[in-house]
Amino acid sequence: MAGPGGSGAGGRGVVISDNWPGYSLDLFTYPQHYYGDLEYVLIPHGIIVDRTERLAKDIVQDIGDNDIVVLCVLKGGYKFCADLVEHIKNLSRNSERFISMKVDFVRLKSYHNVLIVEDIVGTGRTMKVLLNTIEKYKPKMIKVASLLVKRTSRPDGYRPDYYGFEIPDLFVVGYALDYNEHFRDLNHICVINDHGKAKYRV
Ligand code: HPA
Ligand code: MG
Repeated sequence: MAGPGGSGAGGRGVVISDNWPGYSLDLFTYPQHYYGDLEYVLIPHGIIVDRTERLAKDIVQDIGDNDIVVLCVLKGGYKFCADLVEHIKNLSRNSERFISMKVDFVRLKSYHNVLIVEDIVGTGRTMKVLLNTIEKYKPKMIKVASLLVKRTSRPDGYRPDYYGFEIPDLFVVGYALDYNEHFRDLNHICVINDHGKAKYRV
């Protein structure tokens, strides 16, 4: 992989391969009510935050001179969105550019530049529907940032403009991603085990 600052460095995000064993849960802390429900840690919270900081820098470099409206795709996107916006604000504070940023959940005006923030993109079907809807408002610019992209059986699938990690085709929870509304309070991104699936099945 190209080093930092190289042309196109990080263009595919951090690629987590199919044979990546993850980190043992014993190496980290996590809520006691999830003991026994998880297989392993796929991405520790600190790495999520560090990678998000770099995505914020890339976004500011690309669109920093424009005012942007950040559209958070609830609910799974809220942690990533909050951290990303915080990093963008910090970058803006420490530079000569001031970026006006409004976070919105529904209302859109035609003249805005829109940054859609998602937690995870799989086949991209959901994102295409959302993009079609937002294009009707004729914004000057639409960019999509997703924390995760799942490698699905469709390699020709949709790719967001910015993403943090490309992950195997696994069901993940944590950092606001849920399984039947559970695990949003877990700060690492983890793989759920059979016990966890059975416990929280609806
Ligand atoms: N975890 C949580 N929500 C999701 C996932 C996932 O792996 N894929 C699509 N929505
Ligand atoms: Mg989502």
